[in-house]
Amino acid sequence: MQKIHENILKWYDQNGRKDLPWRILHDQYKKYAKVDDLERLKHIDIAYAVYVSEIMLQQTQVKSVLQNYYFQFLVQFPSLKILALSSEDEVLKAWQGLGYYTRARNLYQCAKICMQKWGAKLPADVEKLQTLPGIGEYTAGAIACFGFLQAQAFVDANIKRVLSRFYSLQNPNSKLLMQKAKELLNHKNPFEHNQALLDIGALLCLPKNVKCKLCPLEEFCSGKNEYEKFHTSKKIQYQNITLDILIVQKNQYFLLEQSKEKLYFNLYNFLTYKGEKNASYLGEFKHTYTKYKINARVYFLKDDQFKDQGFKAVLDKELEQLTLSKLAVKAFEIYKKSVDAV
Ligand code: ADE
Repeated sequence: MQKIHENILKWYDQNGRKDLPWRILHDQYKKYAKVDDLERLKHIDIAYAVYVSEIMLQQTQVKSVLQNYYFQFLVQFPSLKILALSSEDEVLKAWQGLGYYTRARNLYQCAKICMQKWGAKLPADVEKLQTLPGIGEYTAGAIACFGFLQAQAFVDANIKRVLSRFYSLQNPNSKLLMQKAKELLNHKNPFEHNQALLDIGALLCLPKNVKCKLCPLEEFCSGKNEYEKFHTSKKIQYQNITLDILIVQKNQYFLLEQSKEKLYFNLYNFLTYKGEKNASYLGEFKHTYTKYKINARVYFLKDDQFKDQGFKAVLDKELEQLTLSKLAVKAFEIYKKSVDAV
């Protein structure tokens, strides 16, 4: 086991993504930071910054989180307390485009709960963390380890693939995986060990193009020759749907409705086109969201008599302040293009 741990840490030292902003927060890792990042994260509560990163990374790629969301969110909500004292609308707005908005609502609820119970601090205890909305076994472990430097094991989809192959486990349940993660855990250096496992999963032990030759676990990996057997990727069953969007302009106002669907709950959308006679077709675009491949067609109707009961009427410039679904944003871009073209 000692040799395995050494291999992992050596590989991480040479190849790990040590400069990711949520990995440079503790003093001993600041040396890996990009200069600007240190400045931007100067007074941040470490566990809070780790927590935000883990929630964002649940369903969003590192690249997108880094480019568009992580720092922006922390600038706007620099502490759990400031998050708790803001409004849900503000949090959703900051989340616009990231998708899976339940994450943002949970983040906000968590902040409120932590404010009431623990003085606007996250508890340094996996059991307590798991009582919070949106924090399951994985996220609790990641916050405890990466935020509070505790020797905690945890399993996400990447680590699951690594462990399944390493220990030749076919369809392991989460209890067995957790047991194996604990067995493999490096109690002397849990932070780097776990970050390394995430990186091995993300960079080498890939679903298809495995890079066993580069892997620090190769020597001891019992699944390497049959790696496909120990990871079955669940193919997403996409559903193709067509969506007809209607942008209505009444006087100077655009009409929007607040979605009651779970996925888009409380986000603003344009209306649905139902064959309105005087509407004109503007164009279409494709958009993928969760399991839906959407072909959206955009129609425009200028109608100063339109019955606008139950809709929100906003001016062009006010649209920016609302949290629109990505569908609505894309539809409005098509509208803008058509206006510009005239
Ligand atoms: N995905 C989930 N947690 C992560 C982390 N700490 N670094 C990179 N990717 C991650």
